[in-house]
Amino acid sequence: MAYDVSDALVFFGATGDLAYKQVFPALQALAKRGHLNMPVIGVAGRSWTSEQLRDHARQSLQEHGGVDEAAFAQLAPRLTYIGGDYHAAETYQKLRQALGDAKRPLHYLAIPPSLFATVVEGLQQSGCDQNARVVLEKPFGRDLESAQELNKILTSVFPEDAIFRIDHYLGKEPVQNLLYFRFANSFLEPIWNREYIDSIQITMAENFGVEDRGKFYEEAGAIRDVVENHLLQVAALLTMEPPARGAPDAIRDAKTQVVKAMQPLSIANVVRGQYQGYRQTPGVAPDSTVETFAAVKLRIDSRRWEGVPIYIRAGKCLPVTSTEVLVELKRPPRVVFDATEPEHANYYRFRLSPDVTIALGARVKQPGEAMQGEPTELIARHIPGGDEMLPYERLLSDAMHGDQTLFAREDMVEAAWSVVDPILGNATPLHEYAPGTWGPPQANALIAGNGVWHNPQVDPLASKQ
Ligand code: BG6
Repeated sequence: MAYDVSDALVFFGATGDLAYKQVFPALQALAKRGHLNMPVIGVAGRSWTSEQLRDHARQSLQEHGGVDEAAFAQLAPRLTYIGGDYHAAETYQKLRQALGDAKRPLHYLAIPPSLFATVVEGLQQSGCDQNARVVLEKPFGRDLESAQELNKILTSVFPEDAIFRIDHYLGKEPVQNLLYFRFANSFLEPIWNREYIDSIQITMAENFGVEDRGKFYEEAGAIRDVVENHLLQVAALLTMEPPARGAPDAIRDAKTQVVKAMQPLSIANVVRGQYQGYRQTPGVAPDSTVETFAAVKLRIDSRRWEGVPIYIRAGKCLPVTSTEVLVELKRPPRVVFDATEPEHANYYRFRLSPDVTIALGARVKQPGEAMQGEPTELIARHIPGGDEMLPYERLLSDAMHGDQTLFAREDMVEAAWSVVDPILGNATPLHEYAPGTWGPPQANALIAGNGVWHNPQVDPLASKQ
């Protein structure tokens, strides 16, 4: 579908962390492809000049991906800066002027959620909202109620088709590949259901702590930070029904439908953990009960998935940094050959980061007299790099073109909050764990009915433990 392309890009939070780590690299990548033929206006509180913003952009690129001189020469002259208080009408008047005769501006709010309403109001009062698109960063609210509140504010100014809610996981190549792999192959669909699948595990492990994000993290915790959004999105891609047709909303409809079918989490199906040392992080309360680890067991009320548990686990300060999905198939009806055959001989393993692997776990006969087997994997691998699009490059480009396929729709956001709402805050106990371990041992009990957690390994060629 063709949409009209935005003709100015405004990004609020121009001096912030997100801009530094993600936005400038994405802008340079867009410029490199010749996709940034518009003014780019950075807005933030500091009283900088445009020259300072350009220097800052260069510094950001030096640290994040490298400066491509030719692309930077395209980007730099387009960059201008507006410094001003987000609460002051004058800031938006300056923006209105800077927009000149732009007819379809895109406003990207790379700012804390507590400022969303203020900026949206400022845009409206200054007329900068006219025919504009708005891009927001997660978290979209803190729970169901505040998500609905935020949405009310947004939709009082922008129509839903002009609102782009970024979940950067959806811009990742291997995450899109889940959708592609499922529906572009005919061998998967016949077994992708409760008849053949025993359980699904999704693990997002990070081997670092919250570092300089203590203040942000205190407001979030693992469930709000990554489970409610990134990991439920991954779960939805794995479990959604085939989209009816290729139109943008067919995919979002199918994803939303399956998230609506997820049972709200109950307290018994959650284990929260906090790594030792978290409370000493700057910005963190000395008696904080915020979780840096969460493991949950989800159920989907649908004909396809009834009785198939979906286990999701996410944590900071775990042994590795990797996101992996393991789809375990039921064992064959009868063990013909091998008395020691394990419970889950067959599985699909989708490694989403840092490298990308799709593996089919199978058993083959060991050479020799005995009819004894051993595990093996049929592997398709891909090392990211080359001409691949960065998630933020793809998402900003899609938003500028008005394509909402990879953005979270409000009904899906609300459905996702409904799943986690009952377990937010201190609804469940908090267990300590030592940094560098796989979280509190209580998480093992959660999965006991379906075996053990699959721990992603460091070596990309290594197979399932
Ligand atoms: C962010 C979370 O959304 O995703 C972070 O706020 C997390 O806590 C990050 O580290 C992980 O993203 P990626 O792309 O590095 O896997």
